[in-house]
Amino acid sequence: MQHKYFQQLQLDVLCKSIFLSGLLLFLLYTLLFHNHANTTTILPLLTLPHKWSTSSSDGGDGSSRASLPSDPADLSPTEISHVGFVVIGSLPTWRWRKHYIESWWRPNVTRGYVFLDKEPTPEFLPWSTTSPPYRVSSDFTNLKVYSKLVNPPQVRMVRAILDMYRQGDRANEGLRWLMVCDDDTLVFVDNLVEVLSKFDHTKYRYIGGNSESVRSNADFSFDMGFGGAGYALSWPLVEALSSKLEGCIERYPRVFVSDHMVQSCLADLGVAVAHQKGIHQIDLHGDISGFLSTHPQAPLVTLHHFDAIDPIFPSMDRLQAIRHLMKAAEVDQSRLSQQTICYHRQSNWSVSVSWGYSAYIYENIIPRSTLIKPLETFKAWVRNTKYPAFMFNTRWLNGNACESPHVFYFQSVDDWKKNKNASEIVGDQVVTTYARKWPANLQPCELAGNHSASRVDEIQVVSPGRTRKMAGVMECCDVNHEVGTNVVGVTIRSCLKDEVIA
Ligand SMILES: *[C@@H]1O[C@H](CO)[C@@H](O)[C@H](O)[C@H]1NC(C)=O
Ligand SMILES: *[C@@H]1O[C@H](CO)[C@@H](O)[C@H](O)[C@H]1NC(C)=O
Ligand SMILES: *[C@@H]1O[C@H](CO)[C@@H](O)[C@H](O)[C@H]1NC(C)=O
Ligand SMILES: *[C@@H]1O[C@H](CO)[C@@H](O)[C@H](O)[C@H]1NC(C)=O
Repeated sequence: MQHKYFQQLQLDVLCKSIFLSGLLLFLLYTLLFHNHANTTTILPLLTLPHKWSTSSSDGGDGSSRASLPSDPADLSPTEISHVGFVVIGSLPTWRWRKHYIESWWRPNVTRGYVFLDKEPTPEFLPWSTTSPPYRVSSDFTNLKVYSKLVNPPQVRMVRAILDMYRQGDRANEGLRWLMVCDDDTLVFVDNLVEVLSKFDHTKYRYIGGNSESVRSNADFSFDMGFGGAGYALSWPLVEALSSKLEGCIERYPRVFVSDHMVQSCLADLGVAVAHQKGIHQIDLHGDISGFLSTHPQAPLVTLHHFDAIDPIFPSMDRLQAIRHLMKAAEVDQSRLSQQTICYHRQSNWSVSVSWGYSAYIYENIIPRSTLIKPLETFKAWVRNTKYPAFMFNTRWLNGNACESPHVFYFQSVDDWKKNKNASEIVGDQVVTTYARKWPANLQPCELAGNHSASRVDEIQVVSPGRTRKMAGVMECCDVNHEVGTNVVGVTIRSCLKDEVIA
């Protein structure tokens, strides 16, 4: 059973805490998230289908390129039709992973292909219209370097960029970006467009995320956009890379993974990755709820490795859990998993909401500086990994009611856009609810006045309906709670000038 962690935390943590507390000091030295300061502009997002011509035949060879698909003179805001997705799949995994992709793919809106290792077998035909259209990766066994390749399937993945480029100008018309990802990557498309719109697509740009695991970054590269997390390449860079790719593969036949090979090729072209918060490789195992409950103030762009982690909601399977998260994502991607913290002073409670995912109540006033650190509910990617395992600071649960939360998970979303009745009731607002999934097993926090939250079984969060959260800008909230009742209300609002969260 997943999510045992919180249920068994007292036992579990007591055993570990003596050993772990000695290591606490060293934690201070782990790296902080980069803090991008330039994330305050918000550009209008147009997610309407855009006119583009579709390739009339399969696999044009691109030999008759007449003009750039991406017109540098076009200075209009970046929108969804400017992004071409290169989803790297394989037939054996497509059977279940297609559901991951279909959870975010918007037929006739999102552009691009899934690149498969072979022609689909009859079981996949006719090809689902809710999946990205497929292309079969081009054969490269005749390349001179082929016999020297240590990992040909990974080279196929690198070559998906070239295969996409070779779909030709008509298929690629108007593209400013390629977004390359795996078939077990969730993409939050509106957030991706918002993030990409901040970058100059007419220059060489390589935007990605690094691994949460120190070890993975060290094994491959700290300066890499991890492939499962997904990385974006501006169109001029795609062109440059495509013309240099075969030479690069010849230089690096022994590079073992595709994203490292791409990073090596780009480094040789003088291009460094721009790390973007919100692009998540998820090189973690087990229950990642602690991680998803403390997301930094940056749009959630991707999540990866769903086959390696527990379902992200308790008592659901992986696919149910993904679809559940998508219910919130369909209403407001800008706030998805964004952490907002406020206090109920009468009870000395701290409330931390990860919009559309979870809400925590602590029976103590804990400053934001502490609450933004993930609770280490998850395990390292590599078993028995040496400390420090993670690229960020974490908190351990110690079973102490003054430091451990009551945990509630996203249950429902009332969308003013879809539900007329709700819109009459709450106006321009979205109401999300969060429910307790197992009985409270904490003693009250005596230090803070013994105000137990064990009776609370639901948290209702009201957030703005029409205004997207500004990327990178924290929001604040107020707690509305009548002592003794089982519901806690939270209203998300803009922060006051210099509001202190503590
Ligand atoms: C996509 O567009 C085609 C052609 O316009 C149409 O036949 C098809 O039904 C559309 N698919 C979806 C899922 O809307
Ligand atoms: C919404 O309102 C309509 C008519 O006013 C009513 O028929 C319907 O049952 C209501 N739906 C809900 C979920 O309350
Ligand atoms: C809140 O906790 C502080 C100690 O941290 C205590 O002095 C104060 O009385 C508590 N307030 C209430 C309302 O319980
Ligand atoms: C706090 O509550 C616990 C049990 O709920 C009780 O044993 C303890 O005496 C209380 N402490 C205070 C200071 O009220």
